[in-house]
Amino acid sequence: MAIISSKKQPQEPNGQPKQRQESAPKPSNETILQPEAAVDEQGKQEESIRPQRFADYIGQKDLKDVLDIAIKAAKSRSEVLDHLLLYGPPGLGKTTMAMILASEMGVNYKITSAPALERPRDIVGLLVNLKPGDILFIDEIHRLSRMTEEILYPAMEDYRLDITIGKGSSARIRSVPLTKFTLVGATTRVGALTSPLRDRFGLVQKLRFYEVDELSQIVLRSAEFLKTPIAQDGATEIARRSRGTPRIANRLLKRVRDYAEVKLSGEITESVAAEALQLFQVDPCGLDWTDRRMLSVIIEQFNGGPVGLETIAAATGEDTQTIEEVYEPYLMQIGYLSRTPRGRTATTAAYKHLGFKPPNEQLSLL
Ligand code: ADE
Repeated sequence: MAIISSKKQPQEPNGQPKQRQESAPKPSNETILQPEAAVDEQGKQEESIRPQRFADYIGQKDLKDVLDIAIKAAKSRSEVLDHLLLYGPPGLGKTTMAMILASEMGVNYKITSAPALERPRDIVGLLVNLKPGDILFIDEIHRLSRMTEEILYPAMEDYRLDITIGKGSSARIRSVPLTKFTLVGATTRVGALTSPLRDRFGLVQKLRFYEVDELSQIVLRSAEFLKTPIAQDGATEIARRSRGTPRIANRLLKRVRDYAEVKLSGEITESVAAEALQLFQVDPCGLDWTDRRMLSVIIEQFNGGPVGLETIAAATGEDTQTIEEVYEPYLMQIGYLSRTPRGRTATTAAYKHLGFKPPNEQLSLL
């Protein structure tokens, strides 16, 4: 199967396409949507960096505590894990969490993405092939087609497939029992899920941005896998510029490693990381060209806002979905942007970061 959706995919900050498919570490597990030629050396390396158990997973303590209890309770009753909805910005570890759940429960997983489940037979094929307790991970679950979603309702609630045979007045529904399984849905837009779908998840959990010290532990761990020498302050510098996101931290680590190897040779220190990331236009807060452009458009062209999303999209050349799902969450998290019913506004902190005089200080000079 391949992705046939032509919808423009959100991009990560720093110009990378948003990662959508991931390959499985064990042959018994399956990534349904394998981009052609994805399983190369680099892909394998990414998989080995990915934590396999809760014990190796840094951060998201509250989420781990909740899931640990759910796992222990399900195991002690010999039941399958409740269906779980994970939401939050991209790159925070939703797929990794689903893989860890499978390994902690001692079951297999299958990974797919809503745009690949266009036809009813796509989801039916997956459901009928699940083994008891298996985890079915559906990424971007807010994008499921109506028909696929309706197949999922009885499958989630009663482990049953309702198949319509025939058409019109002679149509009949035949029910086929399914094995008990756990659906893990992931979304960056929990508000875009229909309520019947959202209500069928027993657990709804948010992934939050990571703290700098958590990200620097992740960078140190990844550097060990990559056999890259790095000092603690080098890891902290990369962490500080990673927008609270492990996927970005690991990506920046690889860019800094390249820079250190080509330009200097030797370990990654704070100054090496800062120099390299300046070259890649990632500023000390982790903002890239698009973040800065978004904020400066709001400040310079619209007096700090409020200004509409469409206008910002036109000015930056990004699509509205990418701005909403990828850029805005972090800018709001660090207090540089606020979303109001009348549009987006830049905060005083954003003015200062970009070297503009905040409006309240401008007034006091008059
Ligand atoms: N790599 C990516 N995310 C991670 C995490 N949360 N813990 C450890 N390593 C990671």
